Amino acid sequence: MEISAKTKLCCLIGDPVEHTMSPAMHNAAFKELGLDFVYLPFLVKPEQLAQAVAGLRAINVRGFNVTIPYKVDIVPLLDSLDPLAEKIGAVNTVVNTSGSLHGYNTDAEGFYRALEVHGVKLEGKKVAVLGAGGAGRAISYILTEKGARITVINRREHLARAQDIADMIIKDLGKPVKVVALNNLAEGLCATDILVNTTSVGMWPHSGDSPVPAALLKGIPVVFDIVYNPTETYLLKQAAQAGAKTFGGADMLAWQGALAFELWTGLPAPLDLMRRQMLKTLDKTSGNI
Ligand code: ATR
Repeated sequence: MEISAKTKLCCLIGDPVEHTMSPAMHNAAFKELGLDFVYLPFLVKPEQLAQAVAGLRAINVRGFNVTIPYKVDIVPLLDSLDPLAEKIGAVNTVVNTSGSLHGYNTDAEGFYRALEVHGVKLEGKKVAVLGAGGAGRAISYILTEKGARITVINRREHLARAQDIADMIIKDLGKPVKVVALNNLAEGLCATDILVNTTSVGMWPHSGDSPVPAALLKGIPVVFDIVYNPTETYLLKQAAQAGAKTFGGADMLAWQGALAFELWTGLPAPLDLMRRQMLKTLDKTSGNI
């Protein structure tokens, strides 16, 4: 599809954005469906976030993704929020309808779909969530909504962020959430059915790091790492050695992208193609795997 006077723009704003897989996924999907759309990444510095959003509104983009570190800061700059994004307090996808910017959170649903397709059941399960950032908030919310009992584990100096998630969940879903400091990790992982790493620990180029010592992984049946580069993190390697079923972040990334694509185009996303294209680009750009 050639760029024309009618081409619609979708984009990404964040800092940094140079390693993003979203342009590869979305442009391949637009091409596959013959859509006159293009997707570009834009590096936006914190002091220019409001200006950038006003500019995207002014040039009438179809929509955009929001990534680190703006998923929470974007909220007051939008006109309205999807109920799930409002509850979570973080947005990763924005749709522009005639100049009105509506925010969604497709991370939460993307995470859930990535587990669900592998038949992992959440009802009644004890799940430990490592990290209390934007991704930790979205994942904690959806896990509780789907019936899991969660423990949020975060660094002691930022335990208030984990407590904030617990407060949000009790207020909104009426379910208690346990909060544990990272230096009491053994306590936080006691009798865990599923461990989810939502921190960036182990992400390339620090691929030799893991947020959990191998000894504490024994007996945890399922481990999910939202890090997708490398596709098998050190945490997942050690968890697999300890006998766990493991899941990397690639499926969640593909799903959150597919859900954003559907919001912008109104068409079913070619999920498998988006996933394949993302893995191909990962392989080329990082030299891992
Ligand atoms: P995102 O929006 O992608 O979730 P974020 O808001 O920066 O990103 O959150 C990252 C999470 O990873 C945070 O919970 C952070 O812990 P703090 O709240 O203590 O900052 C966690 N994190 C990052 N590096 C970490 C490390 N080396 N050890 C433990 N936790 C870490």
